[in-house]
Amino acid sequence: MIVLWTSLFLLPFSALAIALHKLWWTLCRIQRTMASQGIRGPPYKLFYGNTREILQFKNEASSRPMNLSHDIFPRVQPHISTWTGTYDGTVFCLLLIKEVVNNKDKAFPKPEIEGFVKKLLGDGPVTTEGEKWAKQRKLANYAFHGDSLKSMLPAMVDSVHMMLDRWKNLHGDEIEVYQEFTMLTSEIISRTAFGSSYVEGRNIFEMLRKLASIASRNAFKIRFPGISKLWKTNDELESEKLENGIRDAMLEIIRKREEKVKAGELDDLGNDFLGLLVKASHSDDESRRITITDLVDECKTFYIAGQDTSNTMLTWTVFLLAIHPDWQDEARKEVLNVFGNQDPDPDGIAKLKTMGMIINESLRLYPPVVGLIRKVGTKTRLGKLVLPANIGLYIPNLKLHHDPQIWGDDAQLFKPERFSEGVAKATNNNLAAFFPFGLGPRTCVGFNFATAEAKIALSMILQRYTFSLFPAYVHSHTQLLTTSPQHGVQVIFHAL
Ligand code: HEM
Repeated sequence: MIVLWTSLFLLPFSALAIALHKLWWTLCRIQRTMASQGIRGPPYKLFYGNTREILQFKNEASSRPMNLSHDIFPRVQPHISTWTGTYDGTVFCLLLIKEVVNNKDKAFPKPEIEGFVKKLLGDGPVTTEGEKWAKQRKLANYAFHGDSLKSMLPAMVDSVHMMLDRWKNLHGDEIEVYQEFTMLTSEIISRTAFGSSYVEGRNIFEMLRKLASIASRNAFKIRFPGISKLWKTNDELESEKLENGIRDAMLEIIRKREEKVKAGELDDLGNDFLGLLVKASHSDDESRRITITDLVDECKTFYIAGQDTSNTMLTWTVFLLAIHPDWQDEARKEVLNVFGNQDPDPDGIAKLKTMGMIINESLRLYPPVVGLIRKVGTKTRLGKLVLPANIGLYIPNLKLHHDPQIWGDDAQLFKPERFSEGVAKATNNNLAAFFPFGLGPRTCVGFNFATAEAKIALSMILQRYTFSLFPAYVHSHTQLLTTSPQHGVQVIFHAL
């Protein structure tokens, strides 16, 4: 009895000791280890780390609009811009970046995700590791290459026509293109992912968009571990509802499709992305078979990884062309030369060289994804540094894309001619200097999809309109899942 009473009495103290060890002692020890190697940052604060300062930096940066400069790194990531100033330059050594992303001996895996982001991406290919990732990657590679991708292009052209028809009926001087491209990229993903079921698909993506917005606004908020089991915030309750709603809606689409196949109304499960996934879930070959949960997570990832990224790429490219009429003219000349007034086709898309240079320069100045995240799996040597296990690594491509040491004194200027002889020449063979779609085995699986989508949309706009920036446009950025315009981008279009 006395023993039991003593244990109960000691329990809160030992829990407190474990928490302090994890949240204070271990983290301070990591800071000391890194400081002794020249990597110094702001002091760690109990429970919050540096999240409060990050939010403060970001709020302050986004409270003031800037001039039309492309020098956005200090605005979009003010905390990284300030704190990396104190680091030793070796951290950004391009060779080290290659070593991390190539992850040959699995020393630098992706970090585990939790909370809202877990609800959003589940165990989809952006986050998984090992065999599961290899299986998902194989399937996604198949969906986005060669003939599969070609079969998606007509859906992209149809979706752009829908947008352009809508523009004919818009009255007023300017069009807010970020909003327009949100609708366009969602439509394209709904059609390519869900094929004949795309109307139901739209509803799923609407729920995903809400979930993404909850995840974004909670990105730097700390919740004490375990507290959600006792008390849930409104966002937690809402996100649970959305997560279940998405799963139910997806299962319903699959059920309907399977029934139609059984009833002979459909020949097979379809060649859209969902069809490929459902077939994989029925595969006799265990190495190919995926579970229904994997299927749901893959569809979610397809949308989350592919919609807003493509949206911001298109928005910033139109913004850049609106303020650089000379490059807009060049791009239009090329498009009219290749397609005339016809809709874009796969052969022509491959010939758009000037457009490719413009898109690369837009991705350099305004990369939708501003950094890659990895963790240190076990204590590892990286260049001159010895890194303790479990620390996070952040590879800031936005910083590298704007670095005058790599790109020259005109690094902040829009000069697509840098890419006239390809990416390798533009980067002096430093592939780790320009990686809007990532690097190494985890490079973006939707790269071809996204570039085809952008080339089709830009070509069809350039065939019909000249455009310029609305004078009241406010240049300001916010970084949620991607780097998006804080107040939209308003553009004036003149029919040709
Ligand atoms: C402009 C558009 C896009 C940009 C800038 C972009 C950027 C990226 C980047 C930087 C990564 C690497 C992340 C890392 O290494 O941690 C990535 C991975 C990924 N992207 Fe994209 N992406 C775009 C469009 C798309 C599209 C359209 C899809 C699908 C429809 C897609 C699906 C994926 C997937 C599934 C991964 C994970 C790949 C893996 O880990 O194996 N992305 N993307």
